[in-house]
Amino acid sequence: METEALLARSGPESGRAADRDEAEEFLRQYYTEQPDQATPLVERLEQIHAGIDTTGTYDQTSDELAFGARVAWRNSSRCIGRLYWNSLRVLDRRDAKAPEEIHRHLCEHLRQATNLGRIRPVISVFAPDTPEQPAPRVWNDQLIRYAGYRRDDGTVLGDPAHTDFTDFARDLGWHAPEGPFDVLPLIIETADDKPQLFELPRDLVLEVPITHPDHPQIADLALRWHAVPAISNMRLRIGGIDYPLAPFNGWYMGTEIGARNLVDVDRYNLLPVIAGCLGLDTGNEAGLWRDRALVELNVAVLHSFHAAGVKISDHHTESRHFLTHLAREERNGRTVPADWSWIVPPVSGGITPVFHRYYDEAELRPNFHLDDQARARGRGRCPHPH
Ligand code: ARG
Repeated sequence: METEALLARSGPESGRAADRDEAEEFLRQYYTEQPDQATPLVERLEQIHAGIDTTGTYDQTSDELAFGARVAWRNSSRCIGRLYWNSLRVLDRRDAKAPEEIHRHLCEHLRQATNLGRIRPVISVFAPDTPEQPAPRVWNDQLIRYAGYRRDDGTVLGDPAHTDFTDFARDLGWHAPEGPFDVLPLIIETADDKPQLFELPRDLVLEVPITHPDHPQIADLALRWHAVPAISNMRLRIGGIDYPLAPFNGWYMGTEIGARNLVDVDRYNLLPVIAGCLGLDTGNEAGLWRDRALVELNVAVLHSFHAAGVKISDHHTESRHFLTHLAREERNGRTVPADWSWIVPPVSGGITPVFHRYYDEAELRPNFHLDDQARARGRGRCPHPH
């Protein structure tokens, strides 16, 4: 019943006209970095201005879209993995309208991204918000996430980050298996349809069982994690045009799983359990049992992904790559906006080179943005405040 009310109030945000200045700024940047275009810049700018004047928006070419998506990654100040920004695979899905079609493309995204474990960075770009037609949305914050079930005693089975989303999926009719690592269904919403449930085919979701090279008891915990982190709630904005549904993925850095997802107190909160497996004395803070358990869990994550043939990187290698990226970008006359608090890994910060310096904090366009409405959807809430 609550869901009915929620759906009645729900509906995609309505589109706004494309911003002329941003469109021009983007086209100038595109022609500066990729000068060999068939259409001269002045001519292309005329087309775009005419489009905005008559329809409130304009169509980007597939090449402009691909360039914009790659540069949006390059400008993502929280991402340590930007060295390969220029090899992002861009799937132009702007024609997809029906939820079933969008679902098919999202499945194809996962297939190409997973690549049997040799993870490839991929983005799928769906229709933009226009004055005529609001864009499609996915309510999930990532394409692959685990359900969280609130129990009567206040504890959670599964991932506590997704309890509200899980409740919402159940309200929509999802049959929850009620295990600790249940892959959530997708919830897809279009201008013409209410949010609808779609299961991800099992064989498209590659997962890795967590084992430790020296501590077999860790395997007994039956922990696992999915291979592909595919963020689906960030709006891609290129040249004044908003693409609210533009899911993208890279590969994991081990600490995201081993120092955050499985460890944060408001996530799987597993340090005490790992310490138990390792026989550590949890009564004495100064014995650093938390730190010791944390390191071993991170060893386990990296070991498990390697053993399963699934691409992952460690924070030492990734930190070095980031500094390579910085140097390369500076040689090309570009600044690299970076947020220290996100770039420095959550373990061993001070022994990675990214710790020992400051970064440019500029916000550059194109970019990805996390909207309040998108956050609300991730919690299974109506995105429209009233
Ligand atoms: N930290 C997020 C997670 O663990 C994923 C963020 C994107 N990470 C990446 N390696 N591309 O689920």
